[in-house]
Amino acid sequence: MFEHEQFQKKLYGRRKGPKLSAHKEDLRQTLLPKHALNIVQGTDPRDYFAPRVEDVWLEIGFGAGEHMLALARTNPAVGLIGAEPYESGVAKLLSHMEDNPPANLRIHEGDARDILAALPDGSLGKVFVLFPDPWPKTRHHKRRFIQTEMLTAFARVLRAGGEFRFASDDAGYAAWTLERALAHPDFAWTAQSPADFNARPSHWPPTRYEAKALHGPPVYYSFVRA
Ligand SMILES: C[S@@+](CC[C@H](N)C(=O)[O-])C[C@H]1O[C@@H](n2cnc3c(N)ncnc32)[C@H](O)[C@@H]1O
Repeated sequence: MFEHEQFQKKLYGRRKGPKLSAHKEDLRQTLLPKHALNIVQGTDPRDYFAPRVEDVWLEIGFGAGEHMLALARTNPAVGLIGAEPYESGVAKLLSHMEDNPPANLRIHEGDARDILAALPDGSLGKVFVLFPDPWPKTRHHKRRFIQTEMLTAFARVLRAGGEFRFASDDAGYAAWTLERALAHPDFAWTAQSPADFNARPSHWPPTRYEAKALHGPPVYYSFVRA
């Protein structure tokens, strides 16, 4: 078992925000159950979708879900699974998709580690961690979602040739992640030059936090599962 506290299931950050509008509360009651991920240990994630999909991608901490929703709309043969414990973020995603809910999108209103623990080996094509909470103070670094043990968990659930995408506007967290990924035997960094990570690749949809970029210019890393 993992020894690091990251795997002891303590969730840092908010679950509840301001009171939801009546409409968003209604969407939680009506639309969320149709897209909620019913996690079953060991299930091939393609079986979470009807019609069955060819591949499955996981977004961790999707915020208001713009990135995941854009990918679901442009990749109808792929199933998108997203984890986000913040109720207001989930409600925003529901309001973005209510006019045309995509059949290939599943939501876990909770901790991404619940999903990772249940996935079989080599069952995902991509994992996205975009603008995760940076936890800049040294004593809080252990709260960062990216830890070597987490990269090992990603390597387990990604198939060979699969991809882990990371973005951050926090230089400290970016360096932290790069250092760990470069040292990890199962991942290879795809960048050939700074131009490859200083600008968002055109095939990556934007996110809300990227638009704010509060801490500095964002970086965009892509690592391939060996
Ligand atoms: C700074 S926000 C970024 C949101 C979004 N990715 C974006 O770029 O707009 C980080 C998000 O990660 C979520 N988060 C934190 N810990 C998480 C966990 N263990 N599993 C899933 N999401 C998590 C938070 O609730 C928060 O919404």
